[in-house]
Amino acid sequence: MSRKPIIAGNWKMNLLQDEAKALFEGIEKFTRDFTAPQLPTIVIAPVFTSLNVVHTIKCNCGCGGDKVAIAAQNCHWENSGAYTGEVSVEMLKDAGCSYIIIGHSERRQYFSETDEMINKKAKAILAGGLIPIICCGETLEQREAGVTDQHIATQIRAALKGLSEEEVAKSVIAYEPIWAIGTGKTCDSKEANRVIAMIRNVVKEVSSEKAGDAIRILYGGSVKPATIEEQMSQSDIDGALVGGASLKADSFNEIIANTMKVRA
Ligand code: PGA
Repeated sequence: MSRKPIIAGNWKMNLLQDEAKALFEGIEKFTRDFTAPQLPTIVIAPVFTSLNVVHTIKCNCGCGGDKVAIAAQNCHWENSGAYTGEVSVEMLKDAGCSYIIIGHSERRQYFSETDEMINKKAKAILAGGLIPIICCGETLEQREAGVTDQHIATQIRAALKGLSEEEVAKSVIAYEPIWAIGTGKTCDSKEANRVIAMIRNVVKEVSSEKAGDAIRILYGGSVKPATIEEQMSQSDIDGALVGGASLKADSFNEIIANTMKVRA
């Protein structure tokens, strides 16, 4: 089954509006030489305060705005109400987002997000017509203790709880070993592929064979232009969630170009 690759840039808490504008323009310009079917699905996740800036470029780029999708880095599961500091799915849709990253290890670690919260967010995102990018991954201690698969299976089962087969099929998962994030230590491609194939089996078990074959599962953790070809050559890796290397147009565009070399 052929799954369209996704290259997603997670800008994290970086870039002021002018910087976000320049970077987004650099990516948008690169995509002009290609048709949408030639390109992977490109997703950019800026900070909330730059959503409007990138959405305005997307709307005015003259190419129909169909080549670069916008993601938020987090959301709340309620539509509105007394939740100071939070942003709802409906608000993010209104701001031009079609994807929302949830359960990133930095949110789990520093903001105490639980599997249960991530499941509520996934449900709200899908109910709102957007696509969740559900992150999972193990710590170095868990890997060394040999509990990687068990830990990730638990995270995935919890995140997908109560979702319909159609909802699971259109969702995206990002496997991001925590020890590989921002460290320059990329997970070996074959090992990443093994874990991702395991995740796919968990999806088949909790949902259906069809949903497991359709869901796109990305690798994240120190992805660079030099690593992406080998990663994209693996059977089960459907793309990448890129942090550091997404902050420069040159390196992000090279990741897209190298993806197209392997998966045209
Ligand atoms: P990195 O970040 O590419 O800088 O390792 C990936 C991520 O956290 O999504």
